[in-house]
Amino acid sequence: MNRRHFLKTTAAVGAGWLLLPSGARAGKNAPGNKLNIALIGVWGRGLAHYDSLSEENVVALCDVNEKRFPDALKRFPKAKTYVDWRKCLDQKDIDAVVVCTADHTHAFIANWSLNRDLHCYCEKPLAISVEEARVVRANWMKKKTKLATQVGMQRHAGPNFNRTRELIRDGAIGELQAAYAWGNRQVKPAGCDYDQEKGILYFKDKEVRSVAGYLPDGGQPPEGLNYDLWIGPSPAHPYNPGYFGLGAGANCLSWNMFWDFGAGQIGDMGSHTMDLLWNCVDATLPTSAEAKGDPFNPDITPIKCESHFEHPANDWRGPINVGWYQGGAMPKSPKPYIDLNKIDHGAMFKGSKGFLVADFTSRILLPFGDTADLTYYKTRTKDTVLPPLGHFQKQWIEACKNTSLKTACDFEYSGNMIEQLLLGLVAYRVGKKLQYDGATGKVTNCPEANQYLSRKYRDGWKLNG
Ligand SMILES: NC(=O)c1ccc[n+]([C@@H]2O[C@H](COP(=O)([O-])OP(=O)(O)OC[C@H]3O[C@@H](n4cnc5c(N)ncnc54)[C@H](O)[C@@H]3O)[C@@H](O)[C@H]2O)c1
Repeated sequence: MNRRHFLKTTAAVGAGWLLLPSGARAGKNAPGNKLNIALIGVWGRGLAHYDSLSEENVVALCDVNEKRFPDALKRFPKAKTYVDWRKCLDQKDIDAVVVCTADHTHAFIANWSLNRDLHCYCEKPLAISVEEARVVRANWMKKKTKLATQVGMQRHAGPNFNRTRELIRDGAIGELQAAYAWGNRQVKPAGCDYDQEKGILYFKDKEVRSVAGYLPDGGQPPEGLNYDLWIGPSPAHPYNPGYFGLGAGANCLSWNMFWDFGAGQIGDMGSHTMDLLWNCVDATLPTSAEAKGDPFNPDITPIKCESHFEHPANDWRGPINVGWYQGGAMPKSPKPYIDLNKIDHGAMFKGSKGFLVADFTSRILLPFGDTADLTYYKTRTKDTVLPPLGHFQKQWIEACKNTSLKTACDFEYSGNMIEQLLLGLVAYRVGKKLQYDGATGKVTNCPEANQYLSRKYRDGWKLNG
Protein backbone atom coordinates (compact mmCIF):
# COMPACT_ATOMS: atom_id res chain seq x y z
CA MET A 1 0.00 0.00 0.00
CA ASN A 2 1.55 3.34 -0.97
CA ARG A 3 1.42 6.34 1.34
CA ARG A 4 -1.37 8.15 -0.47
CA HIS A 5 -3.57 5.08 -0.62
CA PHE A 6 -2.92 4.58 3.08
CA LEU A 7 -3.99 8.15 3.89
CA LYS A 8 -7.19 7.72 1.94
CA THR A 9 -8.00 4.42 3.61
CA THR A 10 -7.33 5.63 7.13
CA ALA A 11 -9.40 8.79 6.52
CA ALA A 12 -12.25 6.60 5.31
CA VAL A 13 -12.00 4.54 8.51
CA GLY A 14 -12.77 7.89 10.18
CA ALA A 15 -12.48 8.13 13.91
CA GLY A 16 -11.96 4.39 14.39
CA TRP A 17 -8.60 3.38 15.87
CA LEU A 18 -6.32 1.33 13.68
CA LEU A 19 -3.08 -0.21 14.86
CA LEU A 20 -0.27 0.98 12.64
CA PRO A 21 2.92 -1.00 12.08
CA SER A 22 4.83 1.72 13.92
CA GLY A 23 2.43 1.54 16.82
CA ALA A 24 1.17 5.09 16.09
CA ARG A 25 -2.59 5.66 16.10
CA ALA A 26 -4.45 6.74 12.99
CA GLY A 27 -7.24 9.29 12.81
CA LYS A 28 -7.65 12.66 11.22
CA ASN A 29 -5.09 14.39 13.39
CA ALA A 30 -2.85 11.48 14.24
CA PRO A 31 0.75 11.85 13.08
CA GLY A 32 0.36 8.94 10.68
CA ASN A 33 -2.53 10.61 8.93
CA LYS A 34 -1.04 13.97 8.07
CA LEU A 35 -0.37 14.96 4.53
CA ASN A 36 3.17 15.64 3.38
CA ILE A 37 2.85 18.95 1.60
CA ALA A 38 5.12 21.01 -0.65
CA LEU A 39 4.48 24.76 -0.54
CA ILE A 40 5.68 26.42 -3.74
CA GLY A 41 5.89 30.21 -3.36
CA VAL A 42 6.40 30.62 0.38
CA TRP A 43 5.95 34.39 0.83
CA GLY A 44 3.13 36.74 -0.27
CA ARG A 45 0.00 34.68 -0.81
CA GLY A 46 1.92 31.69 0.49
CA LEU A 47 1.79 33.21 3.99
CA ALA A 48 -2.02 32.99 3.96
CA HIS A 49 -1.71 29.21 3.83
CA TYR A 50 0.65 28.78 6.79
CA ASP A 51 -2.05 28.27 9.44
CA SER A 52 -3.96 25.51 7.65
CA LEU A 53 -0.71 23.90 6.47
CA SER A 54 0.76 23.81 9.95
CA GLU A 55 -1.77 21.14 10.86
CA GLU A 56 -0.10 18.91 8.22
CA ASN A 57 3.55 18.07 7.54
CA VAL A 58 5.16 20.67 5.32
CA VAL A 59 8.08 18.66 3.96
CA ALA A 60 9.22 20.93 1.11
CA LEU A 61 9.42 24.69 0.62
CA CYS A 62 10.19 26.13 -2.79
CA ASP A 63 10.78 29.75 -3.70
CA VAL A 64 12.82 31.48 -6.40
CA ASN A 65 13.79 34.05 -3.77
CA GLU A 66 16.17 32.39 -1.30
CA LYS A 67 15.74 35.32 1.11
CA ARG A 68 12.27 33.99 1.89
CA PHE A 69 13.53 30.73 3.37
CA PRO A 70 14.74 31.71 6.87
CA ASP A 71 11.30 32.95 7.97
CA ALA A 72 9.45 30.08 6.29
CA LEU A 73 11.78 27.58 7.98
CA LYS A 74 10.97 29.07 11.38
CA ARG A 75 7.40 27.91 10.78
CA PHE A 76 8.22 24.66 8.96
CA PRO A 77 11.66 23.66 10.27
CA LYS A 78 11.66 20.11 8.90
CA ALA A 79 11.13 21.10 5.27
CA LYS A 80 13.74 20.78 2.54
CA THR A 81 14.20 23.91 0.43
CA TYR A 82 14.30 24.35 -3.34
CA VAL A 83 14.53 27.24 -5.77
CA ASP A 84 13.30 25.22 -8.77
CA TRP A 85 9.81 23.74 -8.48
CA ARG A 86 10.69 20.99 -11.01
CA LYS A 87 13.27 19.61 -8.56
CA CYS A 88 10.93 20.10 -5.63
CA LEU A 89 8.26 17.93 -7.25
CA ASP A 90 10.77 15.08 -7.46
CA GLN A 91 10.94 14.79 -3.66
CA LYS A 92 9.61 11.31 -3.09
CA ASP A 93 7.55 11.66 0.10
CA ILE A 94 5.26 14.48 -1.12
CA ASP A 95 1.47 13.81 -1.17
CA ALA A 96 0.14 17.23 -2.06
CA VAL A 97 1.26 20.57 -3.46
CA VAL A 98 0.13 24.14 -2.73
CA VAL A 99 1.01 26.56 -5.55
CA CYS A 100 1.38 30.26 -4.67
CA THR A 101 3.77 31.35 -7.42
CA ALA A 102 3.35 33.91 -10.20
CA ASP A 103 0.44 33.18 -12.54
CA HIS A 104 2.52 32.20 -15.57
CA THR A 105 3.72 29.08 -13.77
CA HIS A 106 0.40 27.90 -12.27
CA ALA A 107 -0.72 25.56 -15.04
CA PHE A 108 2.80 24.11 -15.27
CA ILE A 109 3.14 23.30 -11.59
CA ALA A 110 -0.45 22.07 -11.36
CA ASN A 111 -0.04 19.82 -14.38
CA TRP A 112 3.33 18.41 -13.31
CA SER A 113 1.86 17.73 -9.86
CA LEU A 114 -1.06 15.79 -11.35
CA ASN A 115 1.38 13.87 -13.55
CA ARG A 116 3.10 12.72 -10.33
CA ASP A 117 -0.23 11.78 -8.73
CA LEU A 118 -0.02 14.64 -6.24
CA HIS A 119 -3.09 16.46 -4.93
CA CYS A 120 -2.96 20.12 -5.87
CA TYR A 121 -4.25 23.41 -4.48
CA CYS A 122 -3.41 26.13 -6.98
CA GLU A 123 -3.84 29.83 -6.36
CA LYS A 124 -6.01 31.60 -8.88
CA PRO A 125 -5.89 31.86 -11.84
CA LEU A 126 -5.44 28.20 -12.75
CA ALA A 127 -4.06 29.18 -16.16
CA ILE A 128 -3.30 32.16 -18.36
CA SER A 129 -4.11 30.62 -21.75
CA VAL A 130 -7.09 28.64 -23.02
CA GLU A 131 -4.83 25.71 -23.83
CA GLU A 132 -3.35 25.65 -20.33
CA ALA A 133 -6.81 25.61 -18.76
CA ARG A 134 -7.85 22.72 -21.01
CA VAL A 135 -4.72 20.66 -20.43
CA VAL A 136 -4.86 20.91 -16.64
CA ARG A 137 -8.60 20.27 -16.50
CA ALA A 138 -8.39 17.24 -18.79
CA ASN A 139 -5.50 15.81 -16.79
CA TRP A 140 -7.43 16.11 -13.55
CA MET A 141 -10.64 14.70 -15.04
CA LYS A 142 -8.75 11.45 -15.71
CA LYS A 143 -7.60 11.31 -12.09
CA LYS A 144 -10.48 12.89 -10.19
CA THR A 145 -11.32 9.78 -8.24
CA LYS A 146 -7.88 9.70 -6.66
CA LEU A 147 -6.66 13.32 -6.54
CA ALA A 148 -8.19 16.37 -4.86
CA THR A 149 -7.83 19.80 -6.45
CA GLN A 150 -8.89 23.32 -5.53
CA VAL A 151 -8.25 26.75 -7.05
CA GLY A 152 -7.70 29.57 -4.55
CA MET A 153 -11.06 31.29 -4.85
CA GLN A 154 -11.60 31.20 -1.09
CA ARG A 155 -14.34 33.85 -1.14
CA HIS A 156 -16.50 30.96 -2.35
CA ALA A 157 -16.75 29.84 1.29
CA GLY A 158 -18.68 33.02 2.20
CA PRO A 159 -22.39 32.32 2.94
CA ASN A 160 -23.53 34.79 0.27
CA PHE A 161 -22.37 32.37 -2.42
CA ASN A 162 -24.95 29.87 -1.18
CA ARG A 163 -27.65 32.49 -0.68
CA THR A 164 -27.36 33.86 -4.24
CA ARG A 165 -27.34 30.35 -5.67
CA GLU A 166 -30.48 29.44 -3.76
CA LEU A 167 -32.32 32.53 -5.01
CA ILE A 168 -31.43 31.78 -8.65
CA ARG A 169 -32.11 28.04 -8.46
CA ASP A 170 -35.40 28.53 -6.60
CA GLY A 171 -36.71 30.95 -9.21
CA ALA A 172 -36.66 34.22 -7.25
CA ILE A 173 -36.00 36.04 -10.55
CA GLY A 174 -37.95 33.58 -12.72
CA GLU A 175 -36.14 31.94 -15.66
CA LEU A 176 -32.45 32.92 -15.70
CA GLN A 177 -31.58 34.77 -18.93
CA ALA A 178 -28.30 36.57 -18.38
CA ALA A 179 -25.59 37.13 -15.78
CA TYR A 180 -22.90 39.80 -15.55
CA ALA A 181 -19.89 40.19 -13.28
CA TRP A 182 -17.58 43.17 -12.96
CA GLY A 183 -14.53 44.56 -11.18
CA ASN A 184 -13.50 48.20 -11.15
CA ARG A 185 -9.76 47.98 -10.41
CA GLN A 186 -7.43 49.93 -12.65
CA VAL A 187 -4.03 48.48 -11.86
CA LYS A 188 -1.04 50.13 -13.52
CA PRO A 189 2.48 48.74 -13.85
CA ALA A 190 5.21 50.47 -11.82
CA GLY A 191 6.07 53.92 -13.18
CA CYS A 192 3.09 54.13 -15.53
CA ASP A 193 0.13 56.46 -16.02
CA TYR A 194 -3.22 55.47 -17.50
CA ASP A 195 -4.91 57.89 -19.87
CA GLN A 196 -8.58 57.26 -19.09
CA GLU A 197 -9.83 58.89 -22.28
CA LYS A 198 -7.57 57.05 -24.67
CA GLY A 199 -7.29 53.85 -22.63
CA ILE A 200 -3.51 53.88 -23.04
CA LEU A 201 -0.77 53.25 -20.45
CA TYR A 202 2.33 55.46 -20.65
CA PHE A 203 5.72 55.32 -18.96
CA LYS A 204 5.57 58.52 -16.95
CA ASP A 205 9.29 59.13 -16.29
CA LYS A 206 10.51 59.19 -19.86
CA GLU A 207 11.34 62.57 -21.42
CA VAL A 208 9.15 61.76 -24.41
CA ARG A 209 5.89 60.12 -23.34
CA SER A 210 5.98 56.58 -24.68
CA VAL A 211 3.42 53.79 -24.60
CA ALA A 212 4.14 51.45 -21.68
CA GLY A 213 5.37 47.91 -22.11
CA TYR A 214 7.56 45.42 -20.23
CA LEU A 215 9.61 47.37 -17.73
CA PRO A 216 13.06 48.56 -18.89
CA ASP A 217 16.27 46.84 -17.83
CA GLY A 218 16.66 47.61 -14.14
CA GLY A 219 20.13 46.13 -13.63
CA GLN A 220 21.11 42.97 -11.77
CA PRO A 221 18.52 41.13 -9.67
CA PRO A 222 19.23 41.30 -5.93
CA GLU A 223 21.22 38.53 -4.29
CA GLY A 224 19.06 35.51 -3.58
CA LEU A 225 16.49 36.14 -6.33
CA ASN A 226 16.78 33.52 -9.07
CA TYR A 227 15.23 35.75 -11.69
CA ASP A 228 15.69 33.33 -14.58
CA LEU A 229 13.64 30.75 -12.66
CA TRP A 230 11.01 33.40 -11.93
CA ILE A 231 10.71 34.03 -15.68
CA GLY A 232 10.46 30.23 -16.02
CA PRO A 233 8.51 29.18 -19.12
CA SER A 234 7.76 32.71 -20.33
CA PRO A 235 9.83 34.62 -22.89
CA ALA A 236 12.76 36.44 -21.25
CA HIS A 237 12.37 40.06 -20.16
CA PRO A 238 15.04 42.06 -18.34
CA TYR A 239 14.89 42.25 -14.56
CA ASN A 240 13.29 45.37 -13.11
CA PRO A 241 12.60 45.94 -9.39
CA GLY A 242 9.16 47.21 -10.42
CA TYR A 243 8.04 43.57 -10.75
CA PHE A 244 8.83 42.99 -7.07
CA GLY A 245 7.92 46.28 -5.40
CA LEU A 246 4.64 45.63 -3.58
CA GLY A 247 3.87 44.10 -0.19
CA ALA A 248 3.07 40.54 0.81
CA GLY A 249 -0.03 39.25 -0.98
CA ALA A 250 -0.24 42.36 -3.19
CA ASN A 251 2.92 41.88 -5.22
CA CYS A 252 0.95 40.04 -7.91
CA LEU A 253 -0.31 43.52 -8.87
CA SER A 254 3.27 44.33 -9.99
CA TRP A 255 3.39 41.72 -12.74
CA ASN A 256 -0.01 40.14 -13.46
CA MET A 257 -1.04 42.70 -16.13
CA PHE A 258 1.78 41.66 -18.50
CA TRP A 259 0.72 39.07 -21.08
CA ASP A 260 3.72 36.83 -20.36
CA PHE A 261 3.13 36.85 -16.60
CA GLY A 262 -0.63 36.91 -16.12
CA ALA A 263 -4.05 37.73 -17.49
CA GLY A 264 -4.59 41.12 -15.83
CA GLN A 265 -7.76 41.58 -13.80
CA ILE A 266 -9.32 38.54 -15.46
CA GLY A 267 -6.91 36.28 -13.60
CA ASP A 268 -6.92 38.43 -10.49
CA MET A 269 -10.25 39.76 -9.15
CA GLY A 270 -11.95 38.32 -12.24
CA SER A 271 -11.39 34.83 -10.84
CA HIS A 272 -13.09 35.73 -7.56
CA THR A 273 -15.93 37.76 -9.02
CA MET A 274 -16.77 35.49 -11.93
CA ASP A 275 -16.87 32.73 -9.30
CA LEU A 276 -19.75 34.57 -7.58
CA LEU A 277 -21.62 34.34 -10.90
CA TRP A 278 -20.37 30.93 -12.02
CA ASN A 279 -21.53 29.32 -8.79
CA CYS A 280 -25.13 30.22 -9.71
CA VAL A 281 -25.34 29.35 -13.38
CA ASP A 282 -23.96 25.79 -13.74
CA ALA A 283 -22.27 26.62 -17.03
CA THR A 284 -19.44 24.78 -18.76
CA LEU A 285 -17.94 26.27 -21.93
CA PRO A 286 -19.41 29.03 -24.06
CA THR A 287 -20.31 28.64 -27.74
CA SER A 288 -19.26 32.19 -28.57
CA ALA A 289 -17.17 35.06 -27.24
CA GLU A 290 -16.83 38.71 -28.17
CA ALA A 291 -15.03 41.55 -26.43
CA LYS A 292 -13.97 45.17 -26.67
CA GLY A 293 -11.75 47.42 -24.62
CA ASP A 294 -8.67 49.63 -24.54
CA PRO A 295 -6.55 49.77 -27.71
CA PHE A 296 -4.45 46.59 -27.92
CA ASN A 297 -1.01 46.76 -26.28
CA PRO A 298 1.25 43.82 -27.23
CA ASP A 299 2.88 43.77 -23.77
CA ILE A 300 0.09 44.65 -21.35
CA THR A 301 -3.44 43.28 -20.99
CA PRO A 302 -6.26 45.86 -21.18
CA ILE A 303 -7.36 47.80 -18.11
CA LYS A 304 -10.82 48.59 -19.45
CA CYS A 305 -12.50 45.71 -21.24
CA GLU A 306 -15.76 43.82 -21.46
CA SER A 307 -16.43 40.36 -22.83
CA HIS A 308 -19.66 38.53 -23.64
CA PHE A 309 -20.35 34.84 -23.97
CA GLU A 310 -23.25 32.67 -25.07
CA HIS A 311 -23.84 29.51 -23.06
CA PRO A 312 -26.12 26.65 -24.06
CA ALA A 313 -29.09 25.50 -21.97
CA ASN A 314 -28.51 22.98 -19.19
CA ASP A 315 -30.89 20.66 -17.34
CA TRP A 316 -32.52 23.43 -15.26
CA ARG A 317 -32.40 26.58 -17.41
CA GLY A 318 -32.45 27.81 -20.99
CA PRO A 319 -29.50 29.36 -22.86
CA ILE A 320 -27.93 32.36 -21.12
CA ASN A 321 -25.58 35.24 -21.88
CA VAL A 322 -22.69 35.83 -19.52
CA GLY A 323 -20.74 39.09 -19.39
CA TRP A 324 -17.50 40.21 -17.72
CA TYR A 325 -16.70 43.94 -17.28
CA GLN A 326 -13.49 45.44 -15.89
CA GLY A 327 -11.56 48.63 -15.30
CA GLY A 328 -14.49 51.04 -15.71
CA ALA A 329 -16.66 49.12 -18.18
CA MET A 330 -19.98 48.33 -16.46
CA PRO A 331 -23.28 46.63 -17.20
CA LYS A 332 -26.35 48.88 -17.28
CA SER A 333 -28.14 49.20 -13.97
CA PRO A 334 -31.72 47.88 -13.97
CA LYS A 335 -32.94 51.01 -12.13
CA PRO A 336 -31.40 54.48 -11.81
CA TYR A 337 -31.57 54.26 -8.01
CA ILE A 338 -29.20 51.26 -8.01
CA ASP A 339 -25.71 52.61 -8.64
CA LEU A 340 -23.70 49.55 -9.68
CA ASN A 341 -20.56 51.72 -9.69
CA LYS A 342 -20.74 51.71 -5.90
CA ILE A 343 -20.12 47.96 -5.97
CA ASP A 344 -16.40 47.48 -6.64
CA HIS A 345 -16.74 43.80 -7.49
CA GLY A 346 -20.17 42.41 -8.10
CA ALA A 347 -22.54 40.27 -10.10
CA MET A 348 -26.00 40.85 -11.52
CA PHE A 349 -28.46 38.21 -12.72
CA LYS A 350 -31.38 38.93 -15.04
CA GLY A 351 -34.37 36.63 -15.06
CA SER A 352 -37.82 36.64 -16.62
CA LYS A 353 -39.29 38.12 -13.40
CA GLY A 354 -36.57 40.30 -11.95
CA PHE A 355 -32.94 41.09 -11.17
CA LEU A 356 -30.58 39.97 -8.46
CA VAL A 357 -27.57 42.16 -7.68
CA ALA A 358 -24.84 40.85 -5.39
CA ASP A 359 -21.42 41.61 -4.02
CA PHE A 360 -19.38 39.07 -2.08
CA THR A 361 -21.34 39.46 1.14
CA SER A 362 -24.81 40.81 0.32
CA ARG A 363 -27.58 40.81 -2.31
CA ILE A 364 -30.57 42.79 -3.53
CA LEU A 365 -33.61 41.18 -5.13
CA LEU A 366 -35.48 43.41 -7.57
CA PRO A 367 -38.72 41.92 -8.89
CA PHE A 368 -40.02 43.52 -12.12
CA GLY A 369 -42.79 46.01 -11.36
CA ASP A 370 -46.11 45.22 -9.69
CA THR A 371 -46.81 41.96 -11.48
CA ALA A 372 -43.84 40.13 -10.01
CA ASP A 373 -45.58 39.21 -6.77
CA LEU A 374 -43.08 36.49 -5.74
CA THR A 375 -45.85 33.88 -5.44
CA TYR A 376 -43.76 31.77 -7.84
CA TYR A 377 -40.95 31.65 -5.31
CA LYS A 378 -40.76 29.84 -1.97
CA THR A 379 -38.01 30.59 0.52
CA ARG A 380 -36.12 27.62 1.91
CA THR A 381 -36.47 26.37 5.44
CA LYS A 382 -33.56 26.15 7.86
CA ASP A 383 -33.28 22.45 6.97
CA THR A 384 -33.08 22.95 3.23
CA VAL A 385 -30.66 25.87 2.88
CA LEU A 386 -27.34 24.91 1.33
CA PRO A 387 -24.89 23.86 4.04
CA PRO A 388 -21.89 26.08 4.83
CA LEU A 389 -18.74 25.13 2.98
CA GLY A 390 -16.52 25.50 6.05
CA HIS A 391 -12.86 26.40 5.77
CA PHE A 392 -11.88 26.60 2.11
CA GLN A 393 -8.27 25.38 2.34
CA LYS A 394 -9.24 22.67 4.81
CA GLN A 395 -11.98 21.48 2.49
CA TRP A 396 -9.20 20.55 0.07
CA ILE A 397 -7.07 18.95 2.79
CA GLU A 398 -10.01 16.78 3.87
CA ALA A 399 -10.61 15.80 0.24
CA CYS A 400 -6.95 14.80 -0.18
CA LYS A 401 -7.46 12.35 2.66
CA ASN A 402 -10.81 11.15 1.39
CA THR A 403 -11.23 11.78 -2.32
CA SER A 404 -14.91 10.86 -2.26
CA LEU A 405 -15.36 14.37 -0.81
CA LYS A 406 -15.91 17.10 -3.38
CA THR A 407 -14.14 20.45 -3.31
CA ALA A 408 -16.03 23.58 -4.36
CA CYS A 409 -13.51 24.95 -6.86
CA ASP A 410 -11.92 21.85 -8.36
CA PHE A 411 -10.01 21.97 -11.62
CA GLU A 412 -13.14 21.17 -13.65
CA TYR A 413 -15.29 24.00 -12.27
CA SER A 414 -12.40 26.49 -12.13
CA GLY A 415 -10.87 25.29 -15.41
CA ASN A 416 -14.11 25.93 -17.32
CA MET A 417 -14.52 29.30 -15.65
CA ILE A 418 -11.04 30.57 -16.49
CA GLU A 419 -11.16 29.07 -20.00
CA GLN A 420 -14.24 31.20 -20.69
CA LEU A 421 -12.59 34.39 -19.39
CA LEU A 422 -9.36 33.72 -21.29
CA LEU A 423 -11.32 33.09 -24.48
CA GLY A 424 -12.71 36.59 -23.94
CA LEU A 425 -9.15 37.95 -24.07
CA VAL A 426 -8.64 36.13 -27.39
CA ALA A 427 -11.82 37.72 -28.76
CA TYR A 428 -10.52 41.08 -27.54
CA ARG A 429 -7.20 40.54 -29.39
CA VAL A 430 -8.81 39.72 -32.73
CA GLY A 431 -11.74 42.12 -32.34
CA LYS A 432 -14.32 39.67 -33.72
CA LYS A 433 -17.19 37.61 -32.39
CA LEU A 434 -15.77 34.10 -32.12
CA GLN A 435 -17.70 30.88 -32.48
CA TYR A 436 -16.16 28.33 -30.14
CA ASP A 437 -16.24 24.55 -30.12
CA GLY A 438 -15.69 23.59 -26.49
CA ALA A 439 -15.26 19.90 -27.40
CA THR A 440 -12.15 20.52 -29.51
CA GLY A 441 -11.08 23.83 -27.96
CA LYS A 442 -11.03 25.54 -31.36
CA VAL A 443 -12.45 28.77 -32.74
CA THR A 444 -14.45 27.71 -35.80
CA ASN A 445 -15.08 30.98 -37.64
CA CYS A 446 -11.82 32.90 -37.33
CA PRO A 447 -8.62 30.92 -38.03
CA GLU A 448 -6.30 33.71 -36.87
CA ALA A 449 -7.80 33.56 -33.37
CA ASN A 450 -6.54 30.02 -32.77
CA GLN A 451 -2.91 31.15 -32.42
CA TYR A 452 -3.89 33.10 -29.28
CA LEU A 453 -5.44 30.13 -27.53
CA SER A 454 -1.97 28.97 -26.47
CA ARG A 455 1.25 30.76 -25.67
CA LYS A 456 4.86 30.15 -26.64
CA TYR A 457 7.23 28.82 -24.01
CA ARG A 458 10.98 29.23 -23.63
CA ASP A 459 13.13 26.36 -24.80
CA GLY A 460 13.45 23.69 -22.16
CA TRP A 461 10.03 24.32 -20.53
CA LYS A 462 7.18 21.88 -21.13
CA LEU A 463 3.62 22.22 -19.87
CA ASN A 464 3.42 18.47 -19.72
CA GLY A 465 6.43 17.22 -17.77
N1 LIG B 1 -6.65 33.89 -3.39
C1 LIG B 1 -6.38 35.16 -3.17
O1 LIG B 1 -7.19 35.90 -2.63
C2 LIG B 1 -5.06 35.71 -3.57
C3 LIG B 1 -4.57 36.88 -3.01
C4 LIG B 1 -3.32 37.35 -3.42
C5 LIG B 1 -2.61 36.64 -4.39
N2 LIG B 1 -3.14 35.51 -4.92
C6 LIG B 1 -2.41 34.75 -5.95
O2 LIG B 1 -1.24 34.23 -5.38
C7 LIG B 1 -0.19 34.22 -6.33
C8 LIG B 1 1.03 34.91 -5.77
O3 LIG B 1 0.71 36.27 -5.59
P1 LIG B 1 1.66 37.16 -4.65
O4 LIG B 1 1.08 38.50 -4.60
O5 LIG B 1 1.95 36.44 -3.41
O6 LIG B 1 2.97 37.22 -5.60
P2 LIG B 1 4.53 37.32 -5.27
O7 LIG B 1 5.18 37.95 -6.46
O8 LIG B 1 4.71 37.97 -3.95
O9 LIG B 1 4.96 35.80 -5.19
C9 LIG B 1 4.70 35.00 -4.07
C10 LIG B 1 5.92 34.16 -3.73
O10 LIG B 1 6.13 33.21 -4.77
C11 LIG B 1 7.50 33.21 -5.13
N3 LIG B 1 7.57 32.76 -6.51
C12 LIG B 1 7.17 33.40 -7.63
N4 LIG B 1 7.35 32.63 -8.72
C13 LIG B 1 7.90 31.44 -8.28
C14 LIG B 1 8.31 30.24 -8.91
N5 LIG B 1 8.24 30.06 -10.23
N6 LIG B 1 8.78 29.23 -8.13
C15 LIG B 1 8.87 29.39 -6.77
N7 LIG B 1 8.53 30.52 -6.12
C16 LIG B 1 8.03 31.53 -6.86
C17 LIG B 1 7.94 34.65 -4.90
O11 LIG B 1 9.34 34.76 -4.76
C18 LIG B 1 7.20 34.98 -3.62
O12 LIG B 1 7.92 34.59 -2.48
C19 LIG B 1 -0.74 34.89 -7.58
O13 LIG B 1 -1.07 33.92 -8.52
C20 LIG B 1 -1.99 35.59 -7.11
O14 LIG B 1 -3.00 35.63 -8.10
C21 LIG B 1 -4.32 35.01 -4.52
